[in-house]
Amino acid sequence: MCGIVGAVAQRNITPILIEGLKRLEYRGYDSCGVALHTDGRLQRSRSTSRVAELEKQMQEVGLQGFTGIAHTRWATHGAPASHNAHPHFSPSSDNARIALVHNGIIENHDELRAELIALGYVFQSQTDTEVIAHLVDHLYTGDLFETVQQAVKRLHGAYAIAVFSREEPHRVVAARQGSPLIVGLGKGENFVASDAMALAGTTDQIIYLEEGDVVDLQLGRAWIVDVNGKQVEREVKTVHAHTGAAELGPYRHYMQKEIFEQPRVVGDTLEGVTGIMPELFGDEAYKVFKEIDRVLILACGTSYYSGLTAKYWIESIAKVPVSVEIASEYRYRDSVPNPSTLVVTISQSGETADTIAALKHARSLGMENTLTICNVATSAMVRECKLAYITRAGVEVGVASTKAFTTQLSALFLLTLSLAQVNGRLTEEEEAAHLKDMRHLPSAISAVLALEPQIMAWAEDFARKENALFLGRGMHYPIALEGALKLKEISYIHAEAYPAGELKHGPLALVTEEMPVVTIAPNDALIEKLKSNMQEVRARGGQLYVFADVDSRITSGEGVHVIRMPEHYGCLSPILHVVSLQLLAYHTALARGTDVDKPRNLAKSVTVE
Ligand code: F6R
Repeated sequence: MCGIVGAVAQRNITPILIEGLKRLEYRGYDSCGVALHTDGRLQRSRSTSRVAELEKQMQEVGLQGFTGIAHTRWATHGAPASHNAHPHFSPSSDNARIALVHNGIIENHDELRAELIALGYVFQSQTDTEVIAHLVDHLYTGDLFETVQQAVKRLHGAYAIAVFSREEPHRVVAARQGSPLIVGLGKGENFVASDAMALAGTTDQIIYLEEGDVVDLQLGRAWIVDVNGKQVEREVKTVHAHTGAAELGPYRHYMQKEIFEQPRVVGDTLEGVTGIMPELFGDEAYKVFKEIDRVLILACGTSYYSGLTAKYWIESIAKVPVSVEIASEYRYRDSVPNPSTLVVTISQSGETADTIAALKHARSLGMENTLTICNVATSAMVRECKLAYITRAGVEVGVASTKAFTTQLSALFLLTLSLAQVNGRLTEEEEAAHLKDMRHLPSAISAVLALEPQIMAWAEDFARKENALFLGRGMHYPIALEGALKLKEISYIHAEAYPAGELKHGPLALVTEEMPVVTIAPNDALIEKLKSNMQEVRARGGQLYVFADVDSRITSGEGVHVIRMPEHYGCLSPILHVVSLQLLAYHTALARGTDVDKPRNLAKSVTVE
């Protein structure tokens, strides 16, 4: 989703801006642009192609400068077209005084647009961002810092902005409310960006701006005022951000690489766990876990499905009631808060706007015991929560989440055991058995990865379909949901998931000979029930594609295709079964020739509502 980089320096900052944009590419975008202060004028270059193309374009015209801003845009208001790409200029392209980039959504943009049109401003784009550029120009007093403080008072909604003026060549002003923004401090130069990773290699001295902050970046100073206009000091942190995406190595796509990294990253996430103890989640965890008597999980998308899986674990092993809510729904509905709730947010990026807003909403309802399972230690989510467990998936580049999911599940299983222990529900023998299973997970996942050639053969069939059903039961129902999500995201095949017992209550009407039905068949207590559900599909001519545990006694036959999962893995079985579904989605997308790592319309880090 939108990414911002800005710099004020005494050297040509083009390489810093371009490198920053490249590091933000993983978030997903459909256009990009850079504006620089050059020879007393504001100049810009924009592209609806990749950042590398923008870089070429800038080299061709020799665009350089000491002060500037850059942006990757994920379209919300207005199509992904070059006239909608940021930076936006005001009062006009030929006579630009103000250049501005924005991440977020301005809710009162219609009202402001009408006001600015009445003042004579001519709009070049359909974006809500251009409204802010004209507003800043309209209010401009000759002091950009002061002007931006006035302008943001008129904005409703979420924003992170960076802006500079033709008339103040060594100044960039930035502000945030509801969207992430950080400041990077250099020697005689300063930077602003959506996250610390964008500045990796440029500076590791990072300030995380707080809600309502406005920052004045000049060569030798970075002054911040808070939401009340009062000058404030914010803590400077040394952040060793990941230096971006690793090499692809022998893989064709990052998604494939990330699927194959799972044995290692699950091992890394559980590394050092030699015993179950609440302190794995933070110093205060024991006290918090003792205090709470229920769990509320808030997340979106794939992270939501890991939460749904955890509900099965926590309720059956720790005997603590769990509700799991889609963050974007929870924040807007009337719920019944209970202060003795442990609020758990799950997020790969730690910056998902809906999840952060849901977390704040939960806190505003008096639920102060918060924990996050997150892949980015420096993210807003980690900073907002009392307790945290950092998964060690590493940078996930593919938009479709894979290794983040299995590491989340690993962390959630640890949380389950910790809650069970605090509640006196975990014997030493059980603890030892679970630890043994967790240690074996990396090699169990590797055995599933070895099924790739068989899954590739299935993918050929799937690539020709436009619909698919996924069935699972119990804790494998969320895995069926995740398998269907992966398939739709990257192959664009319409896929639905159901708990298998629900089939006859409606979706069975969809089953014909044309319908592939992926069935997750672990050898658990529900296997005989599942076999009956499979018969219901076969009786209607549906084609079953079954991932069956080795000892589940399901065999291939007419209309029944079976891939044998190497071993039955008890509670941790969802972590193995999802890997086979990831491979199925990946190879189906590959056969259909889609842009696997950057599926259409999707962004990696969803920082707007
Ligand atoms: C799907 C996917 C998304 C994310 C969702 C939440 O493959 O990646 O559904 O899971 O946007 O993102 P995070 O986990 O960063 O909060």
